[in-house]
Amino acid sequence: MILFKKVTNLHKWLDAQQQKDHLPGFVPTMGALHAGHISLIEMSKKENTVTVCSIFVNPTQFNDPKDFEKYPHTIEKDIYLLEHADCDILFHPSAHEIYPAGLIPKRHYDLGSLETVLEGEFRPGHFQGVCMVVDRLLEIVKPGRLYLGQKDYQQCMVIAKLIELIGKKDLIKIVICPTLREPDGLAMSSRNLRLRKDERLAVVAIYKSLCLVKETWQIKSIAQLKQQTRSMLEEAGFKIDYIEIANAANLTLLNEWDENQKMVMLVAAFMNEVRLIDNMLLN
Ligand code: PAJ
Repeated sequence: MILFKKVTNLHKWLDAQQQKDHLPGFVPTMGALHAGHISLIEMSKKENTVTVCSIFVNPTQFNDPKDFEKYPHTIEKDIYLLEHADCDILFHPSAHEIYPAGLIPKRHYDLGSLETVLEGEFRPGHFQGVCMVVDRLLEIVKPGRLYLGQKDYQQCMVIAKLIELIGKKDLIKIVICPTLREPDGLAMSSRNLRLRKDERLAVVAIYKSLCLVKETWQIKSIAQLKQQTRSMLEEAGFKIDYIEIANAANLTLLNEWDENQKMVMLVAAFMNEVRLIDNMLLN
């Protein structure tokens, strides 16, 4: 694996590859890597001659400065995991390489209702920050395929919209990879590292409550199942941001079941300081 910290050096290397007609597969991350991230690398390795992973903890997407400060940094372990996964390139830039003109946004990305529902409502500005960094990373890496995790369901949709907005829809294919889970069902997340032992045991309630909805949605109303999920999560010690069921194609929130459309359940909740999200397709 080759590690690049400077855009110019990465460009020289990528330009040489592109002359051989090899557009890279790209896995953007914020580090503190786990098996979920590595599954994206593996998927890219299968489909591309060259796989680029980026590690950059993007300051512009943290609506809570405390969350940014506490974001785990485990670069040595990350490099070890990427080497083992046989990743070709790690791009690990400084903030100055990504934002040479500073952190002030250059434009507003018109994300429509994606910006105001679910994560959009509870993390104002978050998706503008995600778009700002992904726009810049795509400009630098120029991938043919982009690998994203279903774990961040709304983020996948936001990035698809971004790619449309920046006119790269025909150039970049998005590949959405399934959520990798711990043996007890908890969705793998860099934030799990911040959970105490007792909290770690309690947070499995998210997965359990999603599974229960998936098993019983045909016999109960949406209101009943949302209430049941709320009770289960509160009992486990969560403070809930949202529990919603939505049209899986556009995240329009649903109050009535509609079996003719794909439906997804999405949850965000705090276990003390740590905010976790998860989702599950229901049909
Ligand atoms: P990060 O949280 O590091 O996630 C990087 C990628 O890994 C995302 O596409 C995410 O959905 C995926 N991922 C995380 N947990 C996963 C799991 N358990 N199973 C499968 N995939 C998983 O998402 C970000 O970083 C940032 O917002 C980023 C897109 C890099 C922009 O800064």
